[in-house]
Amino acid sequence: METITISASKTYKVITDSALLARAGGFIRNALGEKGKKLCIVTDDQVDPLYTAPLEASLCEAGYETVTFAFPHGEASKSLETLSRLLEFLAENQLTRSDALIALGGGIPGDLTGFAAASYLRGIPFVQVPTTLLAAVDSSVGGKTGVNLKAGKNLAGAFWQPSLVLFDMDTIKTLSYDLLLDGIAESIKAGAIADKELFLYIQKAERLTSPETIAHLSRRAIEIKREVVEADERDTGPRQLLNFGHTIGHAIEKSSDFSITHGHAVAMGMAIVSKASQEMGWSQEDCHAPIVNSLRRFRFPLDCPFTAAQLSEAARKDKKRMGDSITLVIPVTLGNCQLKSIPVSQLEDFIKAGLS
Ligand SMILES: NC(=O)c1ccc[n+]([C@@H]2O[C@H](COP(=O)([O-])OP(=O)(O)OC[C@H]3O[C@@H](n4cnc5c(N)ncnc54)[C@H](O)[C@@H]3O)[C@@H](O)[C@H]2O)c1
Ligand SMILES: [Zn+2]
Repeated sequence: METITISASKTYKVITDSALLARAGGFIRNALGEKGKKLCIVTDDQVDPLYTAPLEASLCEAGYETVTFAFPHGEASKSLETLSRLLEFLAENQLTRSDALIALGGGIPGDLTGFAAASYLRGIPFVQVPTTLLAAVDSSVGGKTGVNLKAGKNLAGAFWQPSLVLFDMDTIKTLSYDLLLDGIAESIKAGAIADKELFLYIQKAERLTSPETIAHLSRRAIEIKREVVEADERDTGPRQLLNFGHTIGHAIEKSSDFSITHGHAVAMGMAIVSKASQEMGWSQEDCHAPIVNSLRRFRFPLDCPFTAAQLSEAARKDKKRMGDSITLVIPVTLGNCQLKSIPVSQLEDFIKAGLS
């Protein structure tokens, strides 16, 4: 069992182990205290038949009464409509401030449940039980919660930290390889911003998707996210480093109408930005080769199907743009990135250098 403690506006543990769902009740009771009686499990319709029953059994054993809210899987459900249905469901089931929500699933149940927890009765506790690697290494830690608006992704939300994160590594056995890659991309991103050793580890690893390798990558990603979140919980400075590969990645996701998933798009984004930074003379050493070699070891498709003009147009609309400039995350040396603001007018040339 691995435990990482996060000390943000709330202090909480991230516990990783196998066969954890069956023991979740005890850990949740410990984290939430003796007062709570009722828990609402929030999940999607694909995760529900796989993992709600063992979680529920363990929660009942720990003396909880549970209700379950399952919504259709997919990004379209991360909406105000689902949030509204969930809040009404909580009220109908008379959850009180001493009760709590449990997010069971990937980043979508996690983001939605966190926002519901932040707003129901002006804030009740919640626990993250991630079942995708992306949720385990990224979205379940750090307290960013929210839903999408018609105008764009994650435009309504709150900073609301969980009381506990429980990652049962057995759950990722049912993930497709593509979904696993989405989480791997975020781990490689974490390495690029703070852990040079991760690249050596990936180059040497014999079995890339063995539980040991995945456990190592996820532990490092969570530890690095902890450092960044503890330094800048509200994302006004260093937390933006976690966006390495993301400005271009979001533009790729958007341009593909989301048929290229987040992690795959971020992988392409990291390849483009590291190449462009080198071409511009902003990197002090070759960061591009080790990043791309690691991504290739996992068989990430890295050929970007869009032009620099298409991507810069899509990125201009990114919510992180500040006025006439855009903040990029640049790899200076391997394991060390810096924020760099460039005029929006230079973005297309920058991307062009990364695509060449
Ligand atoms: N809050 C944050 O800091 C943060 C960070 C990164 C990403 N995100 C958000 O996370 C979301 C993406 O996360 P995601 O990829 O986990 O999405 P997701 O929750 O939709 O999960 C992806 C798919 O996998 C299925 N699934 C989940 N667990 C499974 C399992 N164990 N076995 C089989 N299938 C399983 C789901 O039903 C879904 O269809 C996006 O909305 C993104 O904006 C948030
Ligand atoms: Zn991401």
